[in-house]
Amino acid sequence: MAQLAVNGGNKACEHAWPTWPIWGDEERKGLNDVLESGQWWYGEKVRKFERAFADFQDAKFGVTVCNGTVAIEAALTTLGIGAGDEVIVPPYTFVATASAVMRVGAAPVFADILPENLCIDPADIEAKITEKTKAIMPVHLGGHIADMDALNDIAAKHGIPVVEDACHSWGSQWKGKGTGALGACGVFSFQASKNITSAEGGIVLTDDEDLADRCRSYTNCGRAEGRPWYEHHRLGSNLRLTEFQAAILLAQLTRLETQTLKRQANAAVLDETLSGAPGITVLTNDVRMTRRSYHFYTFRIRPGELGVGREKFIEALAAEGVPASPGYSIPLYKNPVFYHLDEEPAARSFADSVDYAKVCCPVCEAVCSDAVWLPQAFLLADEQAVRDAAAAIVKVCENIGELR
Ligand SMILES: Cc1ncc(COP(=O)(O)O)c(C=O)c1O
Repeated sequence: MAQLAVNGGNKACEHAWPTWPIWGDEERKGLNDVLESGQWWYGEKVRKFERAFADFQDAKFGVTVCNGTVAIEAALTTLGIGAGDEVIVPPYTFVATASAVMRVGAAPVFADILPENLCIDPADIEAKITEKTKAIMPVHLGGHIADMDALNDIAAKHGIPVVEDACHSWGSQWKGKGTGALGACGVFSFQASKNITSAEGGIVLTDDEDLADRCRSYTNCGRAEGRPWYEHHRLGSNLRLTEFQAAILLAQLTRLETQTLKRQANAAVLDETLSGAPGITVLTNDVRMTRRSYHFYTFRIRPGELGVGREKFIEALAAEGVPASPGYSIPLYKNPVFYHLDEEPAARSFADSVDYAKVCCPVCEAVCSDAVWLPQAFLLADEQAVRDAAAAIVKVCENIGELR
């Protein structure tokens, strides 16, 4: 029996894991070109990136914005969603999935997630639909695509759009088509931790030209293409990206496919090694998902069987040199913001009628206490290093008795 490093045994992994972001001469040149050109503002490089990223995701149109949060707001506003409406979202996600719904004045309604992939459960969506439901917004969690066939069927049945929160799924493909335009539209984030980044940034993708035009207008002060500069046609905002950000994103995009495939290959190594480990549940990749981006790799522990909780387990992994984290540790609806909605002007239309204290999504609640995340940069390590990390995780499971 190996002694655990947390108890003074040998550390299993001495690797220096890759750090993020990764950049090189492509970013340097792109930034310098923009600087020297004097054209710093929303121009040719922004347009070039919109085209390139939309192509990469197999979407017809792309409208860049300054982050993923406002990308959701722009998508919902463009679809005409606002006060008095409801949008169905999962509770195992970043706050923006629900807060952006509230920012446009609509109420987020939480549908539980599936235990096998942590994406929204279509059956629970059906159970939560009311006459106020105006959109379904799945999150492709960690790059795993929600069941878009089922979601599009439900949406068609009720005559409502699916808006993909694709903020973790650059490069993910469903039956060979990229995320983002699998439903009515989809949104991506290019924030600093994301697999393609310009520190901040986002994009709305769609196959619907009219939706793209209205979205562009909204993000550019309500302007209309080909109309005078100081003529404003709709209530818009300023959500524009700069040429500097577009230059970085164009450079980052040149590496995205290779990095995606590498993360995917390393995730397969983890799946294979961890599926036999005592006390660990490996998640399942839907076979219809033909490529997966992996914003993080997630597995679940069975604390009852291991006899220790997640905190101690992660501490033991850290001591072995494995960079794990607990990820989202409370369901979104348990965040304090949902308990004093009377103080939020944007929530006026539903603050009196929705009581988030009564919401319960049992699968999400369990996952919030037993999921373990490994970050996307770790998945860019050499295969042998990932094999060593997988062996270290198994070592912790097999010697967990030392921690009880
Ligand atoms: C699932 C999800 N949706 C939306 C966002 C919001 O993106 P941004 O941080 O670019 O506003 C994030 C960011 O982490 C996210 O993880």
